[in-house]
Amino acid sequence: MHRSIIVAGAIALVTAAAPTATAQAAPSPSAKPFAEGAAGVGDPFFPFAGNGGYDVGHYDLALKYDYSTQVLDGTATLQARALQKLRRFNVDLRGFDVTSVRVNGKASTFARTGEQELEITPRTPLITGQAFTVRVSYKGVPQTVIDPDGSSEGWVKTTDGAFVVGEPQGSPGWFPANDDPNDKATFDIAVAVPAGKTALANGVLLSSATDGGWTTWRWRQAQPMSAYLATATNGDFPSLVTGALPDGTLIYNAIAPGLNGDGLARQKEIHALFSELFGPYPFGATGAIIDDGGVDYALETATKANYDGSPSEQTVVHEISHEWFGNAVTLEQWPDIWLHEGFARWSQWIFTEKTDGPTAAAAFRKAYNARPAESDFWTLPPADLGEPANLFAAQAYVRGGMTLQALRETIGEVPFFRLLRTWYAENRYANASTADFVATAERVSGQ
Ligand code: ARG
Ligand code: ZN
Repeated sequence: MHRSIIVAGAIALVTAAAPTATAQAAPSPSAKPFAEGAAGVGDPFFPFAGNGGYDVGHYDLALKYDYSTQVLDGTATLQARALQKLRRFNVDLRGFDVTSVRVNGKASTFARTGEQELEITPRTPLITGQAFTVRVSYKGVPQTVIDPDGSSEGWVKTTDGAFVVGEPQGSPGWFPANDDPNDKATFDIAVAVPAGKTALANGVLLSSATDGGWTTWRWRQAQPMSAYLATATNGDFPSLVTGALPDGTLIYNAIAPGLNGDGLARQKEIHALFSELFGPYPFGATGAIIDDGGVDYALETATKANYDGSPSEQTVVHEISHEWFGNAVTLEQWPDIWLHEGFARWSQWIFTEKTDGPTAAAAFRKAYNARPAESDFWTLPPADLGEPANLFAAQAYVRGGMTLQALRETIGEVPFFRLLRTWYAENRYANASTADFVATAERVSGQ
């Protein structure tokens, strides 16, 4: 699924870049020649992520991970729709040997270009609006993706399996994707691992079956999510504890040996508070994956955050709030990351305020007083971080959270909580920008 405003932008970008395009006379859509889909959607921080010209509705991933060789053997089937006439299009994929590509069942030619492009030329060009399936078979030892801030992501090998996280750009390190946060899709993820190992993924567990020494774990994410939120973390998880929220939403908590789930003790209470404050929980499952990931951060992979090490309760509160702000309401462009991280930080403060601790106003004061006036904390506004290395900087988290608290104190309690509920209700399963948030705040507050 794709937001129409972004679609229009992507098409305009493609048209402008195509060598045959002329500056005059905008041709009618039917007169447009078959184009080559763009290699990226032009995000200011990650210009080559995502691809122009089509929209994925569903991913079906069938993966097999050989622990002795670390070879990942995958077949990905993407159900998509062409948004323009396409003679050729790209998907994002980093590394791997691609062994076959089929479009609508027919073998297609393909090429690898740049850092993360798989360029596919279907035997018959696609027409605007046409539904099509792309099946990519690929194999290889996944390469860890290194981010502008130096951190690792993608399919990260662990001592007993892999820790699989994709924000902002790791997903093409394990499956062919349209790695544009605006292209949300549903997912079926099946992972075969050596018998005795557990493979987790987004959504609900459909089955796990062992055959010939391999166990295949099948998961289904039935609500749309961005590709960067997919996971397939696997390894030794002796306890995969399942439970349910009061509304029946299934909980899956997977904890690696030697780690603990103490930070999850108030999981249900956290969901209850955020459902009450923001609106109904957006997904069909929830839970946690607690593993020795080796990446030094937690990530809000949809429905089950990945935690590197035993998390604190504060980290759990943070990641659960991302299901609303980040996973259901998602940024259009990466520089707007404060719409995720600022909201999650403020959500930690409101959880503390509404339970046993100091108010969010006190948390604001503390954050304010902790930084001297000359600190560079004050020179980078949360919605103008400048460069991708600053994506997860304190300005996005803390100044982002402070922005919401200042707004709360300015427009008042009732309008502020109405704003949060409106923002969620109007944008869930979709994407939005800082400008959209400002407009919504003005509309709801009348200020
Ligand atoms: N979004 C994560 C959080 O909840 C942080 C991800 C950090 N990723 C990275 N590549 N540095 O805080
Ligand atoms: Zn976060």
